[in-house]
Amino acid sequence: MPAGIVTVSYIGASILFILALGGLSHPETARRGNVYGIVGMSIALLATLFGGVTANYGLLIGGLVIGALIGLLLARRVQMTQMPELVAILHSLVGLAAMLVGFANFMDPNVQFTGVEHTIHDIEVYLGILIGAVTFSGSVIAFGKLSGKVTSKPLALPARHWLNLGLLLATIWLAVEFVEQSAAGGGLTPLIVMSAIALLFGVHMVMAIGGADMPVVISMLNSYSGWAAAATGFMLSNDLLIVTGALVGSSGAILSYIMCRAMNRRFLAVIAGGFGTATGAVAAAAEDGEIDQIEAPEAARLLAGAKEVMIVPGYGMAVAQAQHTVYELTKQLKDKGVNVRFGIHPVAGRMPGHMNVLLAEANLPYDIVFEMDEINDDFADIDVSIVIGANDIVNPSAQEEPDSPIAGMPVLEVWKGKTTFVLKRSMATGYAGVQNPLFFKDNTRMLFGDARESLSEVLRYL
Ligand code: TAP
Repeated sequence: MPAGIVTVSYIGASILFILALGGLSHPETARRGNVYGIVGMSIALLATLFGGVTANYGLLIGGLVIGALIGLLLARRVQMTQMPELVAILHSLVGLAAMLVGFANFMDPNVQFTGVEHTIHDIEVYLGILIGAVTFSGSVIAFGKLSGKVTSKPLALPARHWLNLGLLLATIWLAVEFVEQSAAGGGLTPLIVMSAIALLFGVHMVMAIGGADMPVVISMLNSYSGWAAAATGFMLSNDLLIVTGALVGSSGAILSYIMCRAMNRRFLAVIAGGFGTATGAVAAAAEDGEIDQIEAPEAARLLAGAKEVMIVPGYGMAVAQAQHTVYELTKQLKDKGVNVRFGIHPVAGRMPGHMNVLLAEANLPYDIVFEMDEINDDFADIDVSIVIGANDIVNPSAQEEPDSPIAGMPVLEVWKGKTTFVLKRSMATGYAGVQNPLFFKDNTRMLFGDARESLSEVLRYL
């Protein structure tokens, strides 16, 4: 394929990726955004494949077929609740690819640079492997935490900040060593030592993060995976990879900033693992008292008499796959003249936009779905709030207990309404491992059971 066509295809694909990101910023345009992304990626793949990237097409196509088959199999098998873990493990593959490309590029005898270009190339290789290694090991631990294979409690090593500082200084010193040795024809040893340090840092960084702060880490790893891809693009002199990596890196960074604001956290403090101490978790877990249970017939009666209803979905709605039943309930209530709205917390569920995706899947209209900031002042006028499988995002201890691991995190203030139904299976804590005083409040009624079954029963009586 002529170089001009490859360039035009790359520009076209870059524009489509930008349109895809724009589309994904709103539920109504998200489907279109996905289509742009798919078309852009197909163009990018074809242009790269036929753009003379290799003479060994057998190996390239073999790799593509194996990769595509694994991707297809995973995508078909994965449950909606496992999506966040899948995303984390996919990020880890981007990191691993950046590491491997970095080493291959460094050792490739055909890659020859002299003078300042040699130094620049060395820095590209060093940064690519560094970011790739942190992304790889950090994402593997994030996968473990999200899938419950690794504890969500933060690992608080006694001198963790000093350890991080030591690792950072060692990385800078090794960079200088690497560039010097590489100029003299060596450099592999500092590169390997730095990789080991970066892998260790990735593990420590994510292990030190408390459960409730995981959203920031996920978006941050998303951003890292973009920068790792951009670094790979520099090493391979592939403009499209640089642009795409930069798009993913910067959009991930913006998402991290949004997450930090939503959680009222400082980015650096989250990265340093300053939140979520074990003592806080124990102190908050000591809360208990009388709970008030409710059964479906009574819940249906109260709902039928309500004028304003607020539905607050959380991770349990995803587990129970209750979104379609939620749609039915909303429809019935609206038919009875009840004003039904949804309050969505920015970190509800296990991935950004998790609840919006589920509600969109069930065809709920977007105009009754509100962000936390838009709706939090309205709870005083709400007759019944239905908390469906949510816990941390409606936990008043975030406001009331300064020692709580979720202290300072804005939450949906459901307890300010007249009555709150909490639909969950037991008194178990949420992802942050913190007991929830909401369950013991006078105006809270616990409706125990699987959220979908409980809602179906309420519907039957409505
Ligand atoms: P959680 O605090 O995790 O609470 C979910 C609740 O759902 C649990 O208490 C569980 O109680 C209940 N549940 C589970 N399965 C259920 C079922 N089948 N039927 C009914 N209830 C069920 O969820 P949340 O309130 O959405 O808060 C999200 C948490 O995850 C926050 O701490 C957030 O920081 C963290 N997190 C978020 C993200 C992103 S990006 N959104 C990423 C990683 C972590 P039972 O077991 O008693 O039923």
